Amino acid sequence: MHRDVMRVKEQKDRYRVCYMSGDDSGYDMMEGALLVLEAMNLPIDWVRADLGWSMWEKSVAKFGEGDPRCNTVPPETIEAIRNTDATLMAAITSKAGVKGFKSAILQMRQLFDLYINLRPAKSLPGIGTPLKGDPKIDIVMFRENTEDLYAAVEFYPLPKEQFDLHPGMERFKKCSEVAVSWRVFSKEGCERIIRAAFEYARSTGRKTVHCGNKANVIRQTDGMMKRIFLEIAKEYEQYGIKGIEENADATAMWLIKNPQDYSVVVASNVFGDILSDEASQLTGGLGFAPSGNIGESTALFEPSSGSVPKYAHKYRVNPSAMLLTAKMMLEYLGLDAEGAKIERAIGEVLVESKPGTLTYDILRDFRGDPDWEKNAASTIDMAAAIAQKIDPNFKGARLDEARSKVRGMCDWTKTVGFE
Ligand code: IPM
Ligand code: MG
Repeated sequence: MHRDVMRVKEQKDRYRVCYMSGDDSGYDMMEGALLVLEAMNLPIDWVRADLGWSMWEKSVAKFGEGDPRCNTVPPETIEAIRNTDATLMAAITSKAGVKGFKSAILQMRQLFDLYINLRPAKSLPGIGTPLKGDPKIDIVMFRENTEDLYAAVEFYPLPKEQFDLHPGMERFKKCSEVAVSWRVFSKEGCERIIRAAFEYARSTGRKTVHCGNKANVIRQTDGMMKRIFLEIAKEYEQYGIKGIEENADATAMWLIKNPQDYSVVVASNVFGDILSDEASQLTGGLGFAPSGNIGESTALFEPSSGSVPKYAHKYRVNPSAMLLTAKMMLEYLGLDAEGAKIERAIGEVLVESKPGTLTYDILRDFRGDPDWEKNAASTIDMAAAIAQKIDPNFKGARLDEARSKVRGMCDWTKTVGFE
């Protein structure tokens, strides 16, 4: 690695951070998160940008359907990401079957070569885990974020000459339709994600790194990943870190049986996509799952949750995932102590469980409240309760002022892009 990619390129007194509210309930979660950050007087200057379905619609309105300039990401947003120290992004909406539509987040991962998808799964006080004995879970997953089936090298229909590329294709010659997606792994790609995982273990004092793979079956791609993993693991023995490679299906099983045995996990893109959702379910589910897309040039932090279109602008969604995502971003900027305050405050609100402070999903899924619909706090009310754990004086006129400021920052009628 050229530098510690888990940290911003350059330490500064003040940072410029790009924020993107995404789509639908993304706006609500961003507004909630910004309210808490507003209470903290952070050395951050915010730069607004937009991306996602709303931008797709805007570009179609501007250029006309089928125009190659139509996109979910406007050029202004790419500039904003490029010219800021980090990006905080809320959930976006994707629609299947729309011609020319490309996922905004997948484009950003490729464009900025954000090769680490960092996905922590840590049990929170007041939420715990659905598992027997409520084991303490503190897993940090490093999912490769640019290669594998996500390289998007796909064929349909399969060109004739491809049937002759490999004897294994012989039996498919008689099939009526054949589609192929290449699973591309590179040595460089494997090395950098595996190294990132071991470096992280070393710098945080973690003692194991697991690698879930299927080298037993998928010999070339996973075989290479396993080989490189074992080589790099040797280098880290001197730090008392143990590299454990295992079959990814076994990882999926053991994560549920013995999650406390896992600390750092590294996986290829597709396996990591699946394993990270599984791990998040052990620690509260997507309402609490943060993630970061990190590369050499910048980092983009997004919650793992979706944009829940049916609740758009209704302030129903849990702000926790977005806030834990903001915590990761603060750590990236070197503001670790500030990030820790957010996690602590969320834990306190969850443990206290006071009326009017928890969103519907928490009441329904973790408190067994039959009146969850009626008793649900809004995204903003829960965020305010969290903010007040950080600063008890964040109330009255100060709270009102902050509320209207962040409302303005997340005004969905004033998107920026494709001007
Ligand atoms: C994720 C999501 C994305 C992925 C989708 C929305 C493109 O599932 O971030 O895990 O597949 O990577
Ligand atoms: Mg996923």
